[in-house]
Formats: sequence, structure tokens, C-alpha cells
Amino acid sequence: MKRILTGDRPTGKLHIGHYFGSLKNRVRMQDEYETFIMIADVQALTDNFNNPDKVRSNVYEVLLDNLAVGIDPRKTKIFIQSMIPEISELTVFYSNLVTIARLERNPTVKQEIKQKKDLFGESVTYGFLGYPVSQAADITILNADVVPCGDDQLPMLEQTREIVRKFNSIYGNTFNEPEPIISNFPRVKGLDGSSKMGKSLNNAIYLDDDSETIRQKVMGAITDEHKIKKDDKGNPNNCTVYFYHEMFSQNDTEDICNECKKGTRGCVDCKRQLADNIIKVLGPIREKRMELQNNKKLLDEILMDGYMAVKPIATEMMKKVRNMMKIDYFS
Ligand code: TRP
Repeated sequence: MKRILTGDRPTGKLHIGHYFGSLKNRVRMQDEYETFIMIADVQALTDNFNNPDKVRSNVYEVLLDNLAVGIDPRKTKIFIQSMIPEISELTVFYSNLVTIARLERNPTVKQEIKQKKDLFGESVTYGFLGYPVSQAADITILNADVVPCGDDQLPMLEQTREIVRKFNSIYGNTFNEPEPIISNFPRVKGLDGSSKMGKSLNNAIYLDDDSETIRQKVMGAITDEHKIKKDDKGNPNNCTVYFYHEMFSQNDTEDICNECKKGTRGCVDCKRQLADNIIKVLGPIREKRMELQNNKKLLDEILMDGYMAVKPIATEMMKKVRNMMKIDYFS
């Protein structure tokens, strides 16, 4: 069986961007792959080092989101990154194989640094700039074959593959080169029409939003700005609501598109229909989440079970790494 490793930063609840970008794929693939999901608290601390309470509490939110969408803990192992210090050890060895210039070119990191001027000012931390190196260690400590993720993670996978090639060529063949698996909706627009839905951008529909919240958010979403009156002709390609219809209203998108273009569909009705369809999908997820959220004992058992599955694999892998790097003293 091929192996999957993917993960989420515990910095907030997950939203429909995560759902379509990665979670749906994980749920679908967990039957055919040996699947591991990492709650990346060490990575979350790279830009939340000053807010450990936030990271701590969101470990459970992210766990709940994964379970609520249908991750089955009997098939998929979910674990906390910091409980596997072998990942940090491997990160140190990998950091010799990456240049600072290469890290500074990573487009996802570049964009994040720009967005985090408040935190970093003019000079970014060593830890944040280096998180792609630690992500390479996340993936390869389990020697994963595939990584289901959104397209913002492609630069991380590219760097991981470069590190693996370099490691293998210097120390001898040790790791696979992992492949990304991208969904049909690798990047979901925000409610404000911006190109990416994000927790920090305040433009997201969360998996645990209730019906009223979903309706309110959809009603406030940005549509084609040239369609002002109900019977004006619209351009669905410039409309966030239509973008979401493609995700949530699969069988009706052709009609929706044609009616909008002809001017026979008003934006208010169009939004109502979208809100109904989102509620149909998220309603059961929210219910499952509420059911689980009071069962802290079960959640802890799932995390411990994940740890027990990962720990021996990580230990073995580091033994091998130490051997390949000729630092296996007294073993
Ligand atoms: N960087 C990912 C994100 O921001 C989270 C993550 C950490 C991850 N380690 C990973 C994703 C390993 C895939 C594989 O969402």
C-alpha cells in the first residue's frame, strides 16, 4: 500500500477552502492508501510563537474538523507533530542541504512574509523562513509517497523533492521523492472575491458555521460588480457566488450560468440557492462535529493511537538516517 502524509496547521478552524482543497481527497483516498494526518503544531508556532494558547486549543479544532468530514481513525492515523521530535532532528540535518537564497525564493513563504509584516517587521525569523525544510522532514520521516494538498503547498513539495535528491546523492539512497495530489479546487476564492480563502483574511466559511451564519456570509459575498439590477446580464466568471456554485451545486451549474448570462437570474435568489446547497453539505459535518466535541477522552485516544503508530516508524527512519550520515556512534 502506498503511504500518504498530509497535515494542517492548528491556527484556526478549517474552512471550505481546506475541505475542497485537501480534506475531501483525504477522505476519498484513506481506503486505498495508508494515511497519516499530522497536526502541525511546530509549524504553527513558527508564526505563532508568541501565542502558544492559540496553537494548543486549535489542535483539537483541527482534529475535530478532520473527523467531522469523514476521516476514520481506524483507517487514518492522526498525530501531533511535536510529539515526534525525530522530525526536528531530521530538520537539522536537512537544513545543511538548502540555501537561504532558495528558501527566499519559495513563492508561498514569500507571500506569507509579506502578509505578516506586523509580526516580523523588516526581518523574518530563521524558523519561519525555514519551515519548508521542516515540512520536508514531516513528509519524509514517514517516507510518504503522496501528499494531498492545495496548490499553495506545491512549492513545499518541490523543495522536499530537491532535499531528498540531495540527501540521496550525498549519503546514499534513503528516501522516496513524494508526489503532490491536487484537487479539482486547489484554490478557493474568499467571500470578498480575493483569490484565496484564509483564516487571517476574514473571508471564510468554516466547516462548523451554523445555517444562519452561512446565509449571512453568502448574502454578503461579492458578485459580478457590473450586474447591478436583478435582470442585468451577468458574467459568472467574475462572480464569487458562481465560483461556489461550481463546488456546491454540481448538477445545476449549467442552468445557473446560462440564466445569469441571459439576465433571468437575480443575485439574491442565486445566493439563496447557494446558501441552501452549502447548508446541505455542511449541516451533517457540523452535527458530527458537535457530537464529537464533548468526547475529549475519545479525541485523546485517537491522538495517542496516531502517536503509537508513527513513533516506531520515525525511530526506525532516524536510525537509518544516522547510519547513512555516519553518525551512528555506539549502535
Ligand atoms: N503547510 C501546510 C499548511 O499550511 C501544513 C503542513 C505541515 C503540511 N506539514 C505538512 C501539509 C506536510 C502537507 C504535508 O496547510
